[in-house]
Amino acid sequence: MRVLVVGGGGREHAIIKKLAESPDVTELLCAPGNGGIAADARCIPVKATDVAGMVSLAKELAVDYVVVAPDDPLALGMVDALAEAGIPAFGPTKAAARIEASKVFSKDLMRKYHIPTAEYETFADADEARAYIKRRGRYPVVVKADGLALGKGVLICETEDAAMDAVKSIMEDRAFGASGSRVVVEEFLTGPEVSVLSFTDGETVVPMVSSMDHKRALDGDKGLNTGGMGTVAPNPYYTEKIAAECMEKIFLPTIRAMKAEGCPFKGCLYFGLMLTPDGAKVIEYNCRFGDPETQVVLPLLESDLFAIMRAVTDGRLADTDVRFSKGAAACVVLASGGYPQKYETGKPIDGLGEAAKTALVYHAGTKLADGRIVTSGGRVLGVTATAKTLDKALKKAYAAAEHITFDGLHKRTDIGRRALEALK
Ligand code: AMP
Ligand code: GLY
Repeated sequence: MRVLVVGGGGREHAIIKKLAESPDVTELLCAPGNGGIAADARCIPVKATDVAGMVSLAKELAVDYVVVAPDDPLALGMVDALAEAGIPAFGPTKAAARIEASKVFSKDLMRKYHIPTAEYETFADADEARAYIKRRGRYPVVVKADGLALGKGVLICETEDAAMDAVKSIMEDRAFGASGSRVVVEEFLTGPEVSVLSFTDGETVVPMVSSMDHKRALDGDKGLNTGGMGTVAPNPYYTEKIAAECMEKIFLPTIRAMKAEGCPFKGCLYFGLMLTPDGAKVIEYNCRFGDPETQVVLPLLESDLFAIMRAVTDGRLADTDVRFSKGAAACVVLASGGYPQKYETGKPIDGLGEAAKTALVYHAGTKLADGRIVTSGGRVLGVTATAKTLDKALKKAYAAAEHITFDGLHKRTDIGRRALEALK
């Protein structure tokens, strides 16, 4: 079958490398893809957010199945548009993608169906939001833009002044555009964070191996929030007991809630959890695979990803084999110096071949220029290694990453350190 993957980052590269292992996948296409993905799939320059363009492309190239990986085309209804054209796709409908695209929708869903999450109120009026925050008078308080904001729409405010600034910036200055027409003001939770990606066909939910992201730019969880500087799997804080509790109190109730609301979720549902002293609570849902979580989760998948994806689309997940290896995986992100703020691009990258001898090198922000791979984004590469233990996987990933050089390269040197301490 001819399969098209929509997107062009490290997550998409990891999906493509895993799909390539499937005996049923005869040809892989990616739109728009990137310089490194081009070695594994035919890349076509159609923007991931171009819904009509993607449907035309899929029809023109007689694509049998489409995997829509990023959040924005899902929120724009790309899966619905493909279905109308008779092309099966992996990913939720526009209505189901609201679970990520609108924080007001997801918070109200959790309240209605008693799914554990931070206490909150929502506001469409900045003055009302400010009055509520003052009346509440407890800090830190968390202020979130309602819509998609490239992962930047969450502001943790230590003081009343900071919270007032957050409301102004989101709702009045529209720092995150239209996504700030409403805000969620919520309780600040504490505890280890866990990412759990799951496959669901709207009825059955199958959690994948758990993982841990490292969102801050600098060692010791210092610096600005980024898209993710590295990941490990499994997450040692996520014990079997907690997993069972999450299945009963969070995963199944969420799948049932979406069905009851008339928008069953099919695809990969990402549960962003915090293990608080009062039990696991949902910090956020994402309607897609995480990035860079996918880069540690899929290498541990032993079953056929394409078979699972088609079972999700067809509603046959309950009868499908989803198995993960008992080992561990670690991914170290190599970023452009200055990311997530200003950084330069177009820097030639060396050592990719050497690194690929012992690790999986996923390309996130690279392109081909005059036959050379050069940097083209903030997160450039994700270097993943698997091993029997997390300690070994981390050593292997860092050793492979050492081979890679480009001008201004920045990486964290402590990915997995907290996870290793938790294992002691
Ligand atoms: P998000 O963009 O929803 O993934 O949020 C970004 C990060 O903000 C999360 O990974 C958490 O570390 C933090 N965060 C979000 N909501 C809360 C909360 N209610 N309490 C504490 N931290 C939070
Ligand atoms: N790594 C977090 C996310 O994909 O949203």
